[in-house]
Amino acid sequence: MGDRSTREVQLTGQLRALGQVGAGYLGDLADPRATAARLAGDARRLTSALAVTVWVRLDDRLVPLAAVAESSPGAARAALPLDADVAPVWATHRGEVLRVDEPAAASEAAGADGWVAAAVGRPPRALAFVPLQGPDPQRPLGTLELVDHAPGAAEPGPFGDDALDVARALAAQGSLALHAALGALRRDAERLDELCALAAIPEHHDPDAPWHVRRIAGYAAAIARGHGLSPDEVRRIELASTLHDVGKVAIPTDILLKPGKLTDEEFAVTREHCRVGRRVLAARPGPVLALGAAIAHAHHERWDGTGYPEGLAGEAVPLAARIVAVADVFDALTTRRSYKPAIGLEQSLRIIRQEAGRHFDPALVDVLQAVFSEVLDVKRRWTPEDA
Ligand SMILES: [Fe+2]
Ligand SMILES: [Fe+2]
Repeated sequence: MGDRSTREVQLTGQLRALGQVGAGYLGDLADPRATAARLAGDARRLTSALAVTVWVRLDDRLVPLAAVAESSPGAARAALPLDADVAPVWATHRGEVLRVDEPAAASEAAGADGWVAAAVGRPPRALAFVPLQGPDPQRPLGTLELVDHAPGAAEPGPFGDDALDVARALAAQGSLALHAALGALRRDAERLDELCALAAIPEHHDPDAPWHVRRIAGYAAAIARGHGLSPDEVRRIELASTLHDVGKVAIPTDILLKPGKLTDEEFAVTREHCRVGRRVLAARPGPVLALGAAIAHAHHERWDGTGYPEGLAGEAVPLAARIVAVADVFDALTTRRSYKPAIGLEQSLRIIRQEAGRHFDPALVDVLQAVFSEVLDVKRRWTPEDA
């Protein structure tokens, strides 16, 4: 026998690639999104899929932790409720490989968010779901969604047994890393919940306060991520943004709850919440509190220098505070208050756009628009039903 068959060369290549995959995940253990992105990229390459999504169960939702395709379809994928009647959710619950080989069925199973069709530039021809297993076989971690098997110049079509074997091996390695990384994500979520509860204390008379800070955290994280900050920076801003108004603890209740217009003197007292916030948060060390202090101090500054308490302008206002300023005003506009109705999303966005370069950093206004679907997802998730 002379030359090795193409099949053998292919297999050797896949084995070698698989061998390298696991170790590569070790660097990302604290960052589930990076782990998921690596898994999605490896899965796309090794199974010749045109697009891959890593779906992971988090609380009561199936979250697309990473979604990759050759060209970015622009919009992000939306999370799915765990009781939704859609393919990624069935596949996760069943914990088995699920193949959808008929184009019509694949189109239907690809879901309503339009991501799959946008990712491959037409309706998909075939899908396959490969389970991501955690330590508890009754509770799969999630599922790896593969779209259109397209090896070399071949026409895209269904995934064969070989491709699915590779996907299964990869999913097994990726699941271990994801499981470890998800521990970090769950701990962060818990810490965020704790911070939200505590940060709402100064406005304890307002039942929306804990929801408000939770939404701010979500908006701020989405904007920070869209602005290209690192996962660590995003996580820190998410946590620290909840603390923006803790200084309100120093505002006397009669001023805080006064209906109607404040006198100049009362407004001066109100403005002090920025400096009080900075002082209480800077009293203890740690990167989240330091960032919280900067945000508390500067979240009412304006890009054009007409804000308070210092009248800082442009990039002299810390980036995290500029991000929270956009998030805070967007939430104030879109939330119903006792003294005002909620303003519609489109109109709120228009108002914020008009303030680009005046109140807000124009680059961040662009980002808010770019990540708007994620922002809406945050709003839906963290608005109480009776609001
Ligand atoms: Fe404030
Ligand atoms: Fe606020």
